[in-house]
Amino acid sequence: MKQLTDQVTFRHGATLNSRLVQAPMLTNSGDHEAVSQDTLDYYGARSQSAAMVIVEYTSVRKNGGPSRSWADDREQLAIYDDSFKPGFTKLAKALKKDGNKAILQLVHSGREANYAPQLGRTVEVPTKMDFPWISYPVHELTDQEVRDVIHDFGTAAKRAIDCGFDGIEIHGANHYLIQQFFSAYSNRRTDHWGGSLEKRMNFPLAVTEEVMRVVKEYAPKDFIVGYRISPEEVHETVGYTWHESTQLIKALIDRFDLDYIHLSLPAYNAKPQDSDKTFAELFQPAIGSQAKEIIVGNVMSEADAKDALKLTDLVAMARATLIDPQIGLKISEGRGDEIVHQISPEQVKRSHLTPGLINLFSDPKMEPHLPGRESIYYLHEKGSLNKDVMKNGTSSSFNLKHFKK
Ligand SMILES: Cc1cc2nc3c(=O)[nH]c(=O)nc-3n(C[C@H](O)[C@H](O)[C@H](O)COP(=O)(O)O)c2cc1C
Repeated sequence: MKQLTDQVTFRHGATLNSRLVQAPMLTNSGDHEAVSQDTLDYYGARSQSAAMVIVEYTSVRKNGGPSRSWADDREQLAIYDDSFKPGFTKLAKALKKDGNKAILQLVHSGREANYAPQLGRTVEVPTKMDFPWISYPVHELTDQEVRDVIHDFGTAAKRAIDCGFDGIEIHGANHYLIQQFFSAYSNRRTDHWGGSLEKRMNFPLAVTEEVMRVVKEYAPKDFIVGYRISPEEVHETVGYTWHESTQLIKALIDRFDLDYIHLSLPAYNAKPQDSDKTFAELFQPAIGSQAKEIIVGNVMSEADAKDALKLTDLVAMARATLIDPQIGLKISEGRGDEIVHQISPEQVKRSHLTPGLINLFSDPKMEPHLPGRESIYYLHEKGSLNKDVMKNGTSSSFNLKHFKK
């Protein structure tokens, strides 16, 4: 019988002290994209939130970000230049101080880089087309630029290794560039990078190949590499279904010795429309026995985590770790009854939420919300959401974007 408190060893030798993971969450705490004191305070407070903490999505390329949504003077983090390394070195150290693993999530945001236009940067996409919810211009990547982006993922991975992270997660989920290439909706190319299912897999596979090459050359043997995927992109339009994404996972697992696959789910027990099985169960055959499966979504208590574990190897929590950054420690020590389940003004302080996160979760319109949010509505600064971004109309759809399949 699996227990949340089991030790888990990845195929390359890294051992986790439990089956609990903190899912990546944008904190909007970057100071000109660099790790700020707010970032360090927030992650320092989460050194015992889970056995493994996946740090928020971080841009591998100047044009791959940033997004800026919930705080006027802060944005997404980046690691496209060596100048960002000192901040990330401190961050990794702060996270690892109590023995847990620190993973950095690497991303190119593609069309979702909503603050790039204000910085005079080009927003890069697989196919230049009209996205109804975006008002800024987008640039279709040339073949050479696609290859440059792939190279940038490798360089960013090297920087993460240099900074002392225990691993990296390739962000292939949530509508960012890798998913945009995999999606038949946003990738209409007819070259090597688009067309058939096989060709739409080429970009995710090439990014992973380059990251693995760098990891084999420079990282310690037990360095962890994971891949995050949204099992489906099904809205008004269909980008892909789980039938296609399981093919991608099979191809990734066949070619690379990934340590884990992380399913980005709206609820841990979510199912597709055409099956009685959960996504977690449907992906297991493709993932196989060497790599671990992580699932996430609405795990808000120890009971939820136990229930989720029936379906998977590792259970990730996002919002629960915002409310109680010691949730992992409490579960590991058999103190589940001490977990704080509601946000409150005191808990905002204790949990070192960044100003961006406070502003987001004190917004009565935010869904999904944190339980207890009514007590922190007064902290919401109405004027502080970035007006230009809102005018440009993308990240106001943040909540929908992340929680749709
Ligand atoms: C504030 C916030 C920021 C997020 N940022 C990221 C991110 O940087 N990368 C990512 O892959 N997912 C991101 N997500 C999605 C979470 O990792 C997770 O999949 C989602 O919140 C569902 O888990 P939960 O129900 O435990 O909150 C974010 C979610 C929230 C609430």
